[in-house]
Amino acid sequence: MANIRSVKGMVGLVTGGASGLGRATVERLISQGASAVILDLPSSDGHKLAASLGERCAFAPTDVTSESDVKSAVDLAREKYGKVDLAVNCAGIAVAVKTYNFKKDLPHSLEDFTRVITVNIAGTFNVIRLAVGEMGKNEPDADGHRGCIINTASVAAFDGQVGQAAYSASKGGIVGNDSSHCPGPCTNGDSCCHHCPRSVLHAPACRITRESSELPGKAGALSLTSGRSSRVCTPCHCDSRKPHD
Ligand SMILES: NC(=O)c1ccc[n+]([C@@H]2O[C@H](COP(=O)([O-])OP(=O)(O)OC[C@H]3O[C@@H](n4cnc5c(N)ncnc54)[C@H](O)[C@@H]3O)[C@@H](O)[C@H]2O)c1
Repeated sequence: MANIRSVKGMVGLVTGGASGLGRATVERLISQGASAVILDLPSSDGHKLAASLGERCAFAPTDVTSESDVKSAVDLAREKYGKVDLAVNCAGIAVAVKTYNFKKDLPHSLEDFTRVITVNIAGTFNVIRLAVGEMGKNEPDADGHRGCIINTASVAAFDGQVGQAAYSASKGGIVGNDSSHCPGPCTNGDSCCHHCPRSVLHAPACRITRESSELPGKAGALSLTSGRSSRVCTPCHCDSRKPHD
């Protein structure tokens, strides 16, 4: 898996796949011969998008924080496409609230903080743990890998702005969480990494299925070429703790 040069024939779960980076990921996967299951909220455009992308795309109405929803999505991938090779976590939410608003004499709502942490960290981990169980059933490739997991952090994990306390904490949590999954043994040979986009236009997720010649060598975008762990996931320069631009 560390030397993936093509996603053709692979099956991917993409959370937040009905919008933004997730949607771009789904569209690229489909256009390059993979199958994709969109895990997104029932209220999203997931159903419409899947219908427009044809047989190799399916929608699983999912709240990533729900064990039963994610299990159903994994089941759908297995039943419809036979396996799970990739899990790309793009579902995420943010609030923009000051830690303390002195004009209103109001502290940041703890409920809002917890909601962001729950969706962004617990939701990502929920998908990782359940996807890994399915990937572990795959035959290992030449590098001994059975699957690949890509999580979306943010430059805010390293460089938060005023009002981003919950968001920055959640993205830092994703970065930290990934270091515990890798390299390999605890996930039975799956690769796991994160990327830290600053903006949609620069987001590595958009590069997931670009021609391999465009991938930056060993530091392959989204670790499809290299990533065994967050420590070697240089799209966000985790080694040096410098954010990806
Ligand atoms: N867009 C950027 O510039 C940028 C920069 C840095 C990081 N990111 C991160 O990239 C990811 C995607 O960002 P985007 O701009 O594409 O966002 P987006 O809002 O366009 O898409 C997020 C998707 O996640 C879904 N979602 C939200 N909560 C969910 C839940 N509980 N269960 C399932 N799905 C849920 C939404 O319905 C939506 O479809 C996020 O994690 C975001 O924090 C984005």
